[in-house]
Amino acid sequence: MYRILLIFSAITLVCSVAEARLDEKTQQTVNEICKQTIDTKFCRAVFVKNLMTSSPSKNDLLNVTVTEAERFSGNTCFFISTLLRNAGDERADLQMCAEAYAIVDTAFTKALSFFSQGLYDKILNLEENVSNGIGICKTDFSVSGYEINPLIEKNRETMVLMAMEKIVGHMASS
Ligand SMILES: *[C@@H]1O[C@H](CO)[C@@H](O)[C@H](O)[C@H]1NC(C)=O
Ligand SMILES: *[C@@H]1O[C@H](CO)[C@@H](O)[C@H](O)[C@H]1NC(C)=O
Repeated sequence: MYRILLIFSAITLVCSVAEARLDEKTQQTVNEICKQTIDTKFCRAVFVKNLMTSSPSKNDLLNVTVTEAERFSGNTCFFISTLLRNAGDERADLQMCAEAYAIVDTAFTKALSFFSQGLYDKILNLEENVSNGIGICKTDFSVSGYEINPLIEKNRETMVLMAMEKIVGHMASS
C-alpha cells in the first residue's frame, strides 16, 4: 500500500512539475485560451508539452499552436490510411474522412506557412476551410476493431486546435 502511494505521489509530482514549468502569467494566459475551447484538458496539454520556455511570447504560443495543428492533421491523414487498409463496410465513410482530412491538412499547412511569413491575420481566414473539412468527416459509422469510432475524438481535437489558432492568432495580430 505504502509503495503504491509512493508511486502515485511521484507521478503527481512529475505532472505538477510539468505544469509549474510555465510561469504564473503564462499559466493564466493558457487557461484563458483553453477555457474558450471544447476540451480544456487537451488544449492545456498541447501547450504544456510543447512550450520551450517558461515565459513564452505570443509568438511562441502561436508557433506551438500552428505547428501542433499541422502535425496533428498529418498524423490523422496517416491514421485514416491505416484504417482504410482493413476496412470493410466502413470503407466509403472512411474515404470521406480521408478527403476531409486532406482539406484540413492543406489548411493547417497553409497556416504554418502564413505564420512563418508573419501573416497572422491570414491564419484566421483558414478557419472556414478547417470547419468545412471536419463537416465532411461524418462519424456516425462503426470502425472495425473499435468500440467507439476513433474519428469522433480526432474531429473534436481538430476543432480544439482550430479554436486555439483562432484565439492565439487574434492575440498575436492585435
Ligand atoms: C517555432 O518553433 C520551432 C520549434 O518547435 C522553432 O524551431 C522555430 O524557430 C520557431 N519559430 C519561430 C518563428 O518562433
Ligand atoms: C480554402 O477553401 C477555398 C474554398 O473552398 C479554396 O478555394 C482554397 O483553396 C482553400 N484554401 C486552402 C489553403 O486550403
